[in-house]
Parts: sequence; structure tokens; C-alpha cells
Amino acid sequence: MTVNRTQFVPSRRHVLALASAVGASAALPARAASTMPTRKVPKSGEALPVIGLGSSKAVSQIGTDGPGPLTEVLRTLVAHGGKVVDTWPRNPENDGKFGQILGTPELRTRLFVTSKIDRVGKEQGVAQFREAQKLYGRKTLDLMQVFSLTDLAVHWPTLRAIKDAGEARYIGATVSEEKLHDQLEAFLRKEMPDVVQTNYSITERKAEAKILPLAQEKGVAVMINRPFMNGAYFGKLQGKPLPAWAAEFDCKTWAEFSLKYILAHPAVTCVLTETADAKHMAENAMTASGRLPDAAQRARMAAYIDEVM
Ligand SMILES: NC(=O)c1ccc[n+]([C@@H]2O[C@H](COP(=O)([O-])OP(=O)(O)OC[C@H]3O[C@@H](n4cnc5c(N)ncnc54)[C@H](OP(=O)(O)O)[C@@H]3O)[C@@H](O)[C@H]2O)c1
Repeated sequence: MTVNRTQFVPSRRHVLALASAVGASAALPARAASTMPTRKVPKSGEALPVIGLGSSKAVSQIGTDGPGPLTEVLRTLVAHGGKVVDTWPRNPENDGKFGQILGTPELRTRLFVTSKIDRVGKEQGVAQFREAQKLYGRKTLDLMQVFSLTDLAVHWPTLRAIKDAGEARYIGATVSEEKLHDQLEAFLRKEMPDVVQTNYSITERKAEAKILPLAQEKGVAVMINRPFMNGAYFGKLQGKPLPAWAAEFDCKTWAEFSLKYILAHPAVTCVLTETADAKHMAENAMTASGRLPDAAQRARMAAYIDEVM
């Protein structure tokens, strides 16, 4: 029997083999980039892979470790069918080197690149956007966000103008602390962002009460940050046993435990996992492919975490 190449769908084994070879390979086979489940941005219908990269840590390490580790993380994300890369411009030297990585032929057209404005004042916000365009070598950013609702009333009209001019495909705002949830809720009720980003995980569940249902009701895509409490999650669970019943939804690690809890919420479009380690990127990316917990299993997961943490 002949294999129809156009219908080739790589198995988990193919992807794993590819990921382990990624450090040595200079380019990615195009056919590998189709393996991660996707969810639609409600406003456009565009499908986004459900696991993305929070790049802050890996970008901040370019100065000490060079571009190699981040390049490998990005290749691993793409090899597993991922594309969303969340960025937060801070150090122009590192960001310029990051821009060079984003511009390499193997990655340039395969990533969905976001950025943020985190300065106060209209001119400062516009200047920060122009700097992101220049450093990342992109006239159009996929998603431009107001960081942590900073000077939101001033920056929101700027972002709307940037979108109207075709310089950002989507616009939105972010929070990463529960104390900002009320303000994010008010913003969601008043405006029509394409995307909001919020902290949400098995340990930080407040977004379930209002933000997630409201975003779903209004047709706003949701990106999730702090799936692992910026790493503190793993320290708190060190030495604690993963319950045997986690196998019922294909969960083998504590990282998968939080990611599967998040992904099982229907309002979630994409989870941003921050890592500077390609093995962790592969683990996080592959979590999207197995079974997800149902409502009863999610309640059991939350109760278990409340008990052991
Ligand atoms: N206000 C905002 O807009 C805002 C604020 C915070 C975060 N964010 C976004 O959210 C992203 C995520 O950041 P976060 O703070 O939320 O971090 P996080 O993803 O909750 O945690 C990151 C930490 O978890 C570790 N890790 C990742 N995958 C792992 C795995 N499979 N096994 C073991 N350890 C693992 C990483 O270490 P290794 O490097 O060793 O893997 C890192 O130290 C940020 O990069 C940013 O894009 C946005």
C-alpha cells in the first residue's frame, strides 16, 4: 500500500523523535507542524494551537546564555504544532537578539507573535509599539496588549488605531494578579477586545467566577498566564505524590496536572507556559494531545490540590 503524503499525520512517536533531534537540526520539516489541538479566536475564527510560549525568562537569559536555548525552545514549540509566543519588551539588547531569532527563515512565518505596552503616557506607549515593530522586524504584530491594564484608558484608543492601520491583527489587555480581576471585568463589559490574558491555574482559580464566563459570553479569546505560578507550583508540590486517578485523563506529571485542568475550561483559547528548557516545552506542548478531565474530575483535582498545598 502506498502512503499518500498529503494525508500524512505524524504520530506522538514521530513528534517525540523530531523534538529530540531538534537541537541538532537546522530546519523543521513542514509536515510536522500540524499536531497540536487548536481553538478558535471567536472574533475571526482563526485557529490557534492551545499551548504557547511565555518568552520572558528565555529572552532575559539571552544576555548570559546566548540565543541557542531560546532558539531550541521555539523550534520545539513549532515541531509540536505550536505557534503562539507571548513577549514583553524590556531590554532592547536582548529583544533585538530575540528579533533576530524570530526572523530566521525556519521560524519567521510559523509564529504568532504578541507584544505589550507597559509604559505610562500616550507617546511612551506609541514609542514602545514602534520599538517592538523595529526590534522584532515585523510591521504587523499578531496581538498587541496593554500590560497589566497599565494606563488602560490612554492606551486602548492607541491600540484601536494601531489595529485600524493594520499594524496589529488583534488587540487586548492582560492581568496576572487576582487583585486586577475586577478592573479586567469592567474593561470586558465596556470594550470589545479580541483577546484578554489572565492568570488562571489549578492553584489560582478566581478567573472561573467572572472573567472566563464573561469572555466566553462576549466572544473574546482568552490566553492564560501563570499556569505554574511562575514556577512556585513545582516547589510547593515537591515530594507530593501525583494521585493514581490522574491516569484516567492521561496525566503523568504535575505540569500536566495544572495544564489539563486549565485546558478543560471551554473559555480558554491558549495557555502560555514560560520555559527556557526545550524538554519542558515539549512536555507542555504534548499535554494538549491526551484526554482532558471532565467536570467531576476537575472538582476532584481542585480538592486534591487544596489538600496537599
Ligand atoms: N501581566 C502580564 O502580562 C504577564 C505577567 C506574567 C506572565 N505573563 C506571561 O505569561 C508567561 C508565563 O509566565 P508565568 O509567570 O506565568 O510562568 P509559568 O509558566 O507559570 O512558570 C514558569 C516556570 O515554570 C517552569 N516550567 C515550565 N514548564 C515546566 C515543566 N514542564 N516542568 C517543570 N517546570 C516547568 C519554568 O522553568 P524552566 O525554564 O526550567 O522550564 C519556569 O521557571 C510569561 O512568560 C508571560 O508571557 C504575562
